[in-house]
Amino acid sequence: MFSYRTICMGFILLYYFSHLAEAVQARSDREQQVSSSLATSSRADSSNVYRIWGPKVLCSLLPDDFLECNKPIDHKDNRTAKEEKGYGCLKFGGLNYEDVEHTKVHCTVFPDIDCHGPRTFQRDGVPCIRYSEHYFLTTLLYSLLLGFLGMDRFCLGQTGTAVGKLLTLGGVGVWWIVDIILLITNRLTPEDDSNWNPYV
Ligand SMILES: *[C@@H]1O[C@H](CO)[C@@H](O)[C@H](O)[C@H]1NC(C)=O
Repeated sequence: MFSYRTICMGFILLYYFSHLAEAVQARSDREQQVSSSLATSSRADSSNVYRIWGPKVLCSLLPDDFLECNKPIDHKDNRTAKEEKGYGCLKFGGLNYEDVEHTKVHCTVFPDIDCHGPRTFQRDGVPCIRYSEHYFLTTLLYSLLLGFLGMDRFCLGQTGTAVGKLLTLGGVGVWWIVDIILLITNRLTPEDDSNWNPYV
């Protein structure tokens, strides 16, 4: 009654359906896994845990463009004041990176920027540098052309020596030349410890 071919076909169908059932089962397992992992991640969101692969960056990792930072505090060479505060600058200025003191400052993220974590924090490694209206090229021209009148030192805010330079007409020429050399070798700098303004 059952031919050899029918039995063989039956086995093949049986084999096929059993595997189909397995595949369907595996697929639903996978879907369940995915949905449960999504559920845990959304739970993590609501409990405010930082997800490193999430869309939000930590506020403290934002670049400076997104922050409003205080200026470095000037302790004016008062070591105890700096130790009390924990940060700040003893001195300002310096030409090379190694000469410049670095400090922490308080930064706040701009209100419209979305990020994770505290929006106000301290950022380290800010240089103790400030700029005022002192331009190197202008001062050099003053020194070259009007050095015998002490104009360069007047402009740098070194009024005392400027008056001396004016009264001696630039040290009868010697001080005039010495100051040009000092200026070029960066030993004659603004009195207020500001750096040369690079934004001409
Ligand atoms: C240095 O700062 C401390 C703490 O602010 C202050 O008590 C002290 O008078 C200051 N010293 C000088 C020399 O200004």
